[in-house]
Amino acid sequence: MHLTKEQEKMLNGEYGSIVSRMMRLLVRLGDVYGAEKMIPVASVQVAGVSYKSIGDPGLEFLQDVASEARVKVLTFLNPAGMDLENWKELGIDEKFAEKQLAIIEAFKKMGIVISATCTPYLAGNLPRYRQHIAWSESSAVSFANSVIGARTNREGGPSALAAAITGYTPYYGLHLDENRQPNVVVEVKAELKNSTDFAAMGYFVGREVKKGIPYYRGIRDADVDDLKELGAAMAASGAVALYHVEGITPEANEVETEGIEKIEFGEEELGEIYEKLNTGDEPDIVIFGCPHASLNEIIKIARLVEGRKARKPFWICTSRAVKEVAERMELDKKIEEAGGKLVADTCMVVSPIENMFSTTGVNSAKAAHYLPGFCKQKVVFRSMEDLLR
Ligand code: F3S
Repeated sequence: MHLTKEQEKMLNGEYGSIVSRMMRLLVRLGDVYGAEKMIPVASVQVAGVSYKSIGDPGLEFLQDVASEARVKVLTFLNPAGMDLENWKELGIDEKFAEKQLAIIEAFKKMGIVISATCTPYLAGNLPRYRQHIAWSESSAVSFANSVIGARTNREGGPSALAAAITGYTPYYGLHLDENRQPNVVVEVKAELKNSTDFAAMGYFVGREVKKGIPYYRGIRDADVDDLKELGAAMAASGAVALYHVEGITPEANEVETEGIEKIEFGEEELGEIYEKLNTGDEPDIVIFGCPHASLNEIIKIARLVEGRKARKPFWICTSRAVKEVAERMELDKKIEEAGGKLVADTCMVVSPIENMFSTTGVNSAKAAHYLPGFCKQKVVFRSMEDLLR
């Protein structure tokens, strides 16, 4: 791979041993994928933040990196294993909290923004069309590539950290225009009534196309929340990192669909996914916000519950940035009066909810996919309105 003088210096240790280790990792990755050069990235999003996922070895690795290296570009963080401010109130164990806070301290020392969200694009890190970035959370990668038209591969935790510390990523995969062509057309015949229907469709398509790039035809309208659910679900049941929607996403009219495979998504497929993802009957708790809730979703929930009292607790997971605006609008009060909570920095999958509940209601297909394995939960998968009702 061709390296610039600056990149050679990084590799040869002139900026310290950690920078050299990180550059070596990127060069190896680039060699594996046949990259001809490195390109600068405008921003990075790092996953692997929860103590539940990375444990003590992860914590030690991060402390080692933080002892020497600092990030070179705007770098945001994925959700942590707990609300970093109100963890006691949510019943998080002290030992877990201590380790989680040590992880956060290491990231902070590196200069990473403690955004703790999987929706950085709603919380202060919005890339522009065609900009090269290195993000790692699968739903955020899908959103950035598809809805914004930025360019990123689905980075692992270490390769994203290496991009943050060096400012570069190898030029391969979805950074190249020729790799952004769709390979399957999805003819949408089902009536999609809400974001949960979009999530169910994404779950079906991800399972069918696996690592492919779907091109949706027949979606009349979709808002940002619908698209975030769609992408998150496809990245969970498959490994879709880019999709196009005719008339809606920015690259859809630049790509070629002639002669590629076609599949259909109708009412029958929609019903099959609801049946598959529902494994429980009566939830102990309902948790919204996978991916993290937008302000608009919080407004909708607050309106639905205003003046009413829920029989079961409900949480809404979101970023700290969105939570603070919601508090300023006193949406948190309406939600709390109804028996709910706005929870920041974390989510139902990366926090240890298995110690508190056994059946969780969600409106996200991604959460419904991971909760049984990661958190030993039975799942009730329904729309936001149905779950609140
Ligand atoms: Fe975000 Fe957690 Fe879902 S990281 S996409 S809320 S599983």
